[in-house]
Amino acid sequence: MIITALIENTSNNKDLKAEHGLSLYINQGKRKILFDTGASGAFAENAAQMKIDLSDVELMVLSHGHYDHGGGLKTFLKENSKAKIYLHSNAFGDFYSNKQNGQTSYIGLDPTLLPDNRFVFTRGVMNLEDGAELFSDIEGTEFCPSGNSDLLVKTEEGYRQDDFCHEQNLILRENGKTVLIAGCAHNGIVNILERFREKEGCFPDVVIGGFHLYNRSFDRNESPELVAEIGKYLSATGAKYYTCHCTGTVSYNQLKTLMGEQIDYLSTGSQLTI
Ligand SMILES: [Fe+2]
Ligand SMILES: [Fe+2]
Repeated sequence: MIITALIENTSNNKDLKAEHGLSLYINQGKRKILFDTGASGAFAENAAQMKIDLSDVELMVLSHGHYDHGGGLKTFLKENSKAKIYLHSNAFGDFYSNKQNGQTSYIGLDPTLLPDNRFVFTRGVMNLEDGAELFSDIEGTEFCPSGNSDLLVKTEEGYRQDDFCHEQNLILRENGKTVLIAGCAHNGIVNILERFREKEGCFPDVVIGGFHLYNRSFDRNESPELVAEIGKYLSATGAKYYTCHCTGTVSYNQLKTLMGEQIDYLSTGSQLTI
């Protein structure tokens, strides 16, 4: 399996754009998968720069209904005419973020994309066949990111804190290895891993994704105490971690100090062979 970071918050290559968002391109056997689309069409520009043909993608997964993961959906729908797009049934919710000026701003998906017969709305566990599976029913509440408290959903009764029931995670299996991919891990990477263990009876070999340990609206990093607890848990799983995006560099550096070789950063343009 080869996983390429099409875009995330940093880039080590001057020819590739970076933005606050995430998009991964995955070769799993003969199948090409796109996981998230970043915040804009920049993921597609980077793909072209890396000679990756997005029209070949057969399966697209959207991790959750935030613009920094689904902002490039319109571009993807234009560049690709065949892939089914798997997103949670709640992904087109009315999502907002608190801002420093006391206002809120819309951070959901572009509602004009609905309806589209290529969207497949998911719930719970969904087997996508050929070694791919989605799961979204996360119930644990251990070590949740504190930045979640500034992320909201608008309902008929007004704003309430988002419960992230629109978030889903991808499991990929190939050559005896299991890879777990999360978008922002708003449900808490520890709770996602606990759900994985409950379902599979073991931990994955590799985990990839943002851990939401940085609150962008308020430029605030997660407390070192919480990051230390998370690092201790992650170390004990024995998995290899590649993190990026909303983990933030301060929390990543702390995790790196705690976990050493067990964790690395995945910048735009990086490629992993698993
Ligand atoms: Fe998010
Ligand atoms: Fe994000």
